[in-house]
Formats: sequence, structure tokens, C-alpha cells
Amino acid sequence: MKNKKFFIETYGCQMNFSDSEIVASILEEGGFGSTKDIMDADMIFINTCSIRDNAEQRVRKRLEYMQFLKKKNPGLVIGMLGCMAERLKTQLLEEEQVLDLIAGPDSYRDLPRLMAEVESGRKAVNTLLSIEETYADISPVRYDSNGISAFISIMRGCENYCAYCVVPYVRGQERSRDGISITQEAETLFHRGFREVTLLGQNVNSYQWIQDGTKTAFAGLLEKVAQVNPLLRIRFATSHPKDLSDELLQTMARYKNICKAIHLPVQSGSTSILDHMNRGYTRDQYLERTTAIRSFLPDCAISTDIIAGFCDETEEDHKETLSLMEQVGFDYAYMFRYSERPETLAADRYKDNVPAEIKDRRLREIIDLQQKLSYQSNKKDVGKTVEVLIESFSKRSDEFFSGRNSQNKVVIFPVTSNNPGDYVRVKINRFTSATLIGEVI
Ligand code: SAH
Ligand code: SF4
Ligand code: F3S
Repeated sequence: MKNKKFFIETYGCQMNFSDSEIVASILEEGGFGSTKDIMDADMIFINTCSIRDNAEQRVRKRLEYMQFLKKKNPGLVIGMLGCMAERLKTQLLEEEQVLDLIAGPDSYRDLPRLMAEVESGRKAVNTLLSIEETYADISPVRYDSNGISAFISIMRGCENYCAYCVVPYVRGQERSRDGISITQEAETLFHRGFREVTLLGQNVNSYQWIQDGTKTAFAGLLEKVAQVNPLLRIRFATSHPKDLSDELLQTMARYKNICKAIHLPVQSGSTSILDHMNRGYTRDQYLERTTAIRSFLPDCAISTDIIAGFCDETEEDHKETLSLMEQVGFDYAYMFRYSERPETLAADRYKDNVPAEIKDRRLREIIDLQQKLSYQSNKKDVGKTVEVLIESFSKRSDEFFSGRNSQNKVVIFPVTSNNPGDYVRVKINRFTSATLIGEVI
């Protein structure tokens, strides 16, 4: 099996993309090589997501294609990793004959052994969750990287048990990673030419690391990473509204290289739905936090996640979501229709009782409103001069560079003598729905 090549494809959130880099590192250590060409691979790993039913359906479809590849190359090994592997465990082996290997998010160190088992003709499974695994000592292979921005996973798991959410079941207990290994990883990345890191966790605000009796909370960690170098930009995701502290906002204000963008998922604008969802804050408490953001960080972008049509959501509740969106004026939002996930609190205790067509109509209204808000947000940027970190050539044309401003908006502008990794000042002249367009001044 050694000297064989692996290919990883990733679905789901940023944490999964970060995990795929850890998997690549473990496989390379185990003597396997990576390939970017799926046709050239001896093993294909699919790192999966369970967050909504359609995320799992996409993976099921993809497995049909894997079956086709395996017919052409019977020696091909197909492995499923990540949250769907964790959720369905050995049941997958019965349902999906094409799979040879199943590994949950905390068992990636076991992959070389699992591969050996596959080699000896057995199917291999490890879906044990851990209370301590953080892969702190593994330096991720930047598998699909632009060489400029990278993810650093700072914690794993989640214990918030939002009623709709599968994450606590598939990712296990919340645990924070050793803070020193995090700053070291940021330093190494900087010296390798990276200029932006995103610190990742399901709820970064509850990060906590205790060493020699001293506690480091998220604000302290962020400060240490910001001090690595003023030319290294820091982002983070995701913040939970119930734990977003003033101290964090003050830290953000003190460091220019901590990007002024906060992703603060609200889910609903109705206090009774928030309570039903077990989110741990009310509408007013959420609004108080966004007001605090605006007062500490006047130029900070605020983005969010919204779920349409959660159990028992009335028309009144839905209108409260729309009015909260207007009130905050989100710069960006990810918007979803509620999808019942087996074994969650909501699946056990509530009825998924908002009819599909009403869910869809409410989602439509939410999306339409957000389009208007994003338009207003982009319009406000016209005429401004913003600092942009150049990431690459624009996807559409080699005559344009593409990068982002501190607020995480994509900015494109005609190519100059600069290179990816440089900071430039760009005057914004116009915009499309997803992009600001300008010129270097
Ligand atoms: N930890 C993050 C969110 C992780 S999941 C947080 O708490 O903010 C990303 C988003 O998926 C969630 O914010 C939520 O909006 C959405 N989501 C999660 N479960 C869902 C479900 N069952 N149906 C629809 N959307 C869901
Ligand atoms: Fe899911 Fe809630 Fe945890 Fe986010 S905080 S991952 S929505 S349980
Ligand atoms: Fe999906 Fe797992 Fe992330 S369920 S959203 S890949 S933590």
C-alpha cells in the first residue's frame, strides 16, 4: 500500500477543510503521497458533512460516481471521513458497498492502521470520539492552498446543543488546543509567506487554555497571534452571540491586523424561537451585542446565519427575523431552510411542522431582504480607499488581482507590479452583488 497516492475531497464547513489538511499530513507521515488528480489516485477520501439533509444527499450522489471509478479500477480504496461517517458509522458499510474505510473526526491518527486493515482485505472502521484529541502536534499539509491564507483549528467539538444541530453528536465534546502550538503554527505560516490566518472553532469565544495555573481565553489568544507580525492578518470564526465579550472587541480595536469582521450567527429574530432552539440569548441580547460591536469597532462588518422555518415558527416570528435583519443591517448572511436531523433535541421533542412551501417562501423573503442589505453595504464602500491583501489573480481574468479587505469583502482591481501576499490600497469605484471593484492608488 505504501507509495500509493491519495486524493481528498472535502464538503462542509471550514473546520472540515482544516481537518483534511490534518488528514493529508497524517497520510504523508504514514508514507502515502498526495495527488491533485482524482484519476491518478489509489485511495479517495471524502470528508463529509451532516449539517443538513442535502449535505448528506450530495455525498450519497458522489458515492455513485465512486462506484463507477471503482469498476474501472477495482484496487481503488474509497474512504469516508468526517461528520457523516461519525453519524452513520457501520450502518454506512451496509448501505454503501463501495466504501472500504470509515473514520470519524477524532480518529484520523488511526488512518495508517485502518489502511493496513483494508490492505489485508477487511473493511476498516473507527468512529470513536475523544475528549482530548486536538491534533495540536500535527502540522497540517496546506493541501489546496493559495499560499497566502490558511486555517488554524483552535478547538474541536461543541457542547451548546442547539436543538436543531447535529454537530455536538458528530464532533463530540468541546476542547481547546494548546495555545503555544497555535501561535507557533501562525509563526511558521508567516515565515512560509502566508499573510492571513483564520482561527477556527464552532464557538471560538469559549476557547480556554490553562497552563501553569494561567488561563488564556480567546481574547488573550487572539492578541498573542496578532503579535506574531503586524503583516499577518487574523480572522476567526465562529462567534457565538452568548459569549462575545467586550474584552474581545477591545482587543480587536487595538490591533490593526485583526480583521474587522465578525460572523455572529443569529438563527432567528424571535426570542421565543431562540429559546426553542436553545441558543442561550434573546433578541434584545443579540441586538445589544451588535450595538457593542458598532460602538467599539465602527467599521466592523457583521455577518450571520439564519434558519427559516424552524419548528413552531409563526408568521410573527418570521417577521421578527426580517425586522432584526433590517435593524442590524447585516453585510452578509448564510441562509438555510430548517432541515430536521435525526437524534437532535428538535427531532426528538418537536414537530417539524412548518410546511415545506412556507419554509421556502420565508427563506425567499429572507434571501431577498439580505440581497438588499448586502447591496446597501457594498454601496457604502464606493469612493472609499481600503487596504487589500492580494490573494491571487481574479478567477475571471488574469488582468485583475483578487483579494479581500479587512471586512472580508472580495475586492478586484487591475493588475499592478505587486504580487500575491502584498498589501495595497485600493479605491473602490463600483461593485457587483458579490465583489467590490476598484484600482490601486
Ligand atoms: N457553530 C456555529 C454554526 C455551525 S453550523 C454557530 O453556532 O453559529 C452552520 C450553520 O448551519 C448554523 O449557524 C445554522 O444556521 C445552520 N444549521 C445548523 N443546523 C441546521 C439544520 N438542522 N437545518 C438548517 N440549518 C442548520
Ligand atoms: Fe451547532 Fe449550536 Fe454548536 Fe453551533 S453552537 S455547532 S449551531 S450546537
Ligand atoms: Fe458539517 Fe461537520 Fe462542519 S456537520 S458544518 S462538516 S462540523
